[in-house]
Amino acid sequence: MYPTGAQWSEMCGITGYTGSKDAVGIVIEALKRLEYRGYDSAGVAVVGKSLSVFKDQGQIAQLERILPETHGGTAIGHTRWATHGRPSKENAHPFLDCKGQVALAHNGIIENFYSLREQLRQEGHTFASETDSEVAVHLVEKFYKGNLEDAVREAIKHIQGTYAFVIVHSGEPGKIVAARNFSPMVIGLGSGENLLASDISAILKHTDKVIYLRDREMAVVTPNAVRITDFEGNEIRHEPQTIMWSMEDAERGGFEHFMIKEIFEQPEAIHQTLLGRFDESDIDRLLSQNLTSIKIVACGTSYHAALAGKYILEELGRVPVTAELASEYRYSRGGMDRPLVILISQSGETADTLAAAREAKKRGCPTLAVTNYVGSSLTREADFTFYTRAGLEIGVAATKTFLTQLVAMYLIGMKLGLQRNALTPTQADGLLNELRALPRVVQSVLDRAEAVRKLAAKYAAADNVFYIGRYVNYPIALEGALKLKEISYVHAEGYPGGELKHGPLAVISEKTPIVAIAVRDHTYEKMLSNIGEVNARGGPVIGIGMDDDSDLGKYVDDIILVPTVRPLLSPVPIVVALQLLAYHVAKARGCAIDKPRNLAKTVTVE
Ligand code: F6R
Repeated sequence: MYPTGAQWSEMCGITGYTGSKDAVGIVIEALKRLEYRGYDSAGVAVVGKSLSVFKDQGQIAQLERILPETHGGTAIGHTRWATHGRPSKENAHPFLDCKGQVALAHNGIIENFYSLREQLRQEGHTFASETDSEVAVHLVEKFYKGNLEDAVREAIKHIQGTYAFVIVHSGEPGKIVAARNFSPMVIGLGSGENLLASDISAILKHTDKVIYLRDREMAVVTPNAVRITDFEGNEIRHEPQTIMWSMEDAERGGFEHFMIKEIFEQPEAIHQTLLGRFDESDIDRLLSQNLTSIKIVACGTSYHAALAGKYILEELGRVPVTAELASEYRYSRGGMDRPLVILISQSGETADTLAAAREAKKRGCPTLAVTNYVGSSLTREADFTFYTRAGLEIGVAATKTFLTQLVAMYLIGMKLGLQRNALTPTQADGLLNELRALPRVVQSVLDRAEAVRKLAAKYAAADNVFYIGRYVNYPIALEGALKLKEISYVHAEGYPGGELKHGPLAVISEKTPIVAIAVRDHTYEKMLSNIGEVNARGGPVIGIGMDDDSDLGKYVDDIILVPTVRPLLSPVPIVVALQLLAYHVAKARGCAIDKPRNLAKTVTVE
């Protein structure tokens, strides 16, 4: 039902071609197919009689204008989604070494790049960009002794993080060396030509025979041969697979919609958000200031992350926190205090959130942006930025960006807790380990997607649905309702459980399903009472709880269980189940899931 293997993919697209056709033309065409993976800058390196690199900020069409005509040869290309260093020509891939002999394109994140860059600088290497990726090309230069494959094998021993590399050397035309650790890479097999790419949509036009490179594997690709080895140099044989997908299927990784693809990308998105995030000194400095209170400001789904952030930061950091909608905050009068204002926006371009950032500055408040877009307007307005690194999100309904905003809240809460002695180092370590386990927890929810689909089919005809939750799951009830209403056009409302009797119960009947989130925290008994109130009015209840709860099933009509985590972390698996529920209801109702009516992905108007 769901394609496998596609969930562990992150953004940035890389590709390569070697053969007798127009290498640059083929690479450009492949990059256009990969543009959905990121599009803030792009570049191509071509090896003919010499090695040349062409790159620019902006979309592929921009790059095309500066490319020379070439025939035959070997080329690599990259379309970038910035994670380190703003979008610019200098930060675009491929990167060259100091001598201009090696060119490299990278997809992933090099965690130890600060220390590698320092060391390489001391050894005399000069850097032309702000990126993490550039250290890799200088490492290859450092170890190059006449054989590119050996140099790459040596270089990657020093690199920590995630990567798919394609690398060429002017002295070895016709050869592309690739290496993979965690970032996707597929090799397309042609006759007298071979191709590489981050995903098959880029190369499907040329061949349907592919080999997926696995983690900790390298490939040496020439027009007539592909040799795969592990990082130790042992040769490996993989049977080529024949791909049956259409081009469009391939772009969505075989998923029917970008939204469901992005839901399935969440384990990887969480992993990327967590990578290298524990020693970010800027944020440490910000949080070490004498903070008396925090205000989190955002719109839409990001506001739900803000509201969850209130509970998370208060519990972990023992600091008073308020959450406010950006469109309200900007027109409020403001008090006498100067809270730290955290602005959450996946796009970093939402007009009300930008205006709120300016208002916060005007009021003399320090500001921290939490965003997914490197170099977005919000990062320029705020004093500091925390990047969520979810990768490009195409579906209008936010999914993986929301989950990574939650992870940002846990990380900031943990740092705050340590700074304010609300958490001991041992408690923080324990929490960190649980955060690191979240990709597996989310994967396990995704593995149960079929059960959620069946439930969605049962309730798809309902015209009104209520979602209730308490404490940190109250914002998750709001988010579950928002997801349902925006993509399925079903009227859905989220409420704190305690508010049901203050109005909503009046409209509960056997035609109004209630999605009730119940986790075993200090609010559990109260949630059971709320469920009882709904039962008494004949409303069908879908209970969402955790695996260790053998009681919940007795009180509800249907149940979705997610893996057990500590209650404060429960929004993560629970919201994934709610995303799946909304997706399948919308699908059953035949809605335009990736492009819901009346909605835009980024709201740049007030
Ligand atoms: C809902 C959704 C919107 C956005 C809101 C803010 O699925 O995506 O509610 O969350 O428009 O957008 P950002 O986070 O870009 O500021």
